[in-house]
Order: sequence, then structure tokens, then C-alpha cells
Amino acid sequence: VDEATRIAAIIEDCRHLEGPMLPILHKVQAEFGYIPDGAKQIIAQALNLSRAEVHGVVTFYHDFKDHPAGRHTLKLCRAEACQSMGGDALAERVKAKLGLGWHETAADGSVTLEPVFCLGLCAQAPAAMLDGELYARLDEDCLNDIVAEVRA
Ligand code: FES
Repeated sequence: VDEATRIAAIIEDCRHLEGPMLPILHKVQAEFGYIPDGAKQIIAQALNLSRAEVHGVVTFYHDFKDHPAGRHTLKLCRAEACQSMGGDALAERVKAKLGLGWHETAADGSVTLEPVFCLGLCAQAPAAMLDGELYARLDEDCLNDIVAEVRA
């Protein structure tokens, strides 16, 4: 089934809802991992909106991606306990090493960097998650290993 047909089916599923745009976008993202460019036009037409309006919603909510995520997803905890244990400085170093800001994906598609708000490891802060795997008590060495792994 091609992309347009899959998107049309999602729209059909949701169009009876009040305020169908967000549910549609969530389902499209769940299905494709991001919001394909073509989807914006199809959704706009179905909802009688302009493509720019749909694009505006996609870019407003950081949950939505307009390109596929990297092969790895690195999430750094930005919540209080981790901040107080040097999480901020650590995040700055990771960003510098990867050359990425929050929500960005490396040009080679290797990694996407995301903030996360508490991973439940506050007692072992600072914490991170790489591809679903938790890392606690992050230090410089651990960080270098993670950066090496996502670049490999
Ligand atoms: Fe970072 Fe809870 S605040 S794991």
C-alpha cells in the first residue's frame, strides 16, 4: 500500500473526531516514524486547511518529526535531579560533541538527540537513555562511549 493510501486511511479513521488534526498527526507519526512531506498536503486537503497551517502544527509540537529519526535516539534527562547533578553541563558537552541541538538529527542519520523529563533514575543522576537502554550516573567516560557508539 502506498504512502498516500495509508495516510488517507488514517484520516478516515479520525475525521469524525472533534479537532481531528492532532490525532491524525499522531497516527501518521506512529505509522511512519515521522510526518512525511506529502502527508501535510493530504491532511490539509482533507481538513480544508492550507498546507502551511498543517506544517505550522507539525513544527509547533516537538513530538512531531518532519524527517525520519536517526538510527539511534539519545535522550538526556533534563529534569531537576539530573540538572542538580551536572546534567546541564553534560548536555552541553553532548550537544557540542554531536554538533546537534535538541530534537535534531545528525546529517548522516546516525543519531537524534532528545530531552526527556525524568527517567526514574533520580537517585542515580544524571541519567540518559540510548535506544531504550538506561544509563545512570553518567560521567565523561560513559558519555564518550555513548558518543562513540552512536557514531559507529
Ligand atoms: Fe533525571 Fe529523574 S530527574 S532521572
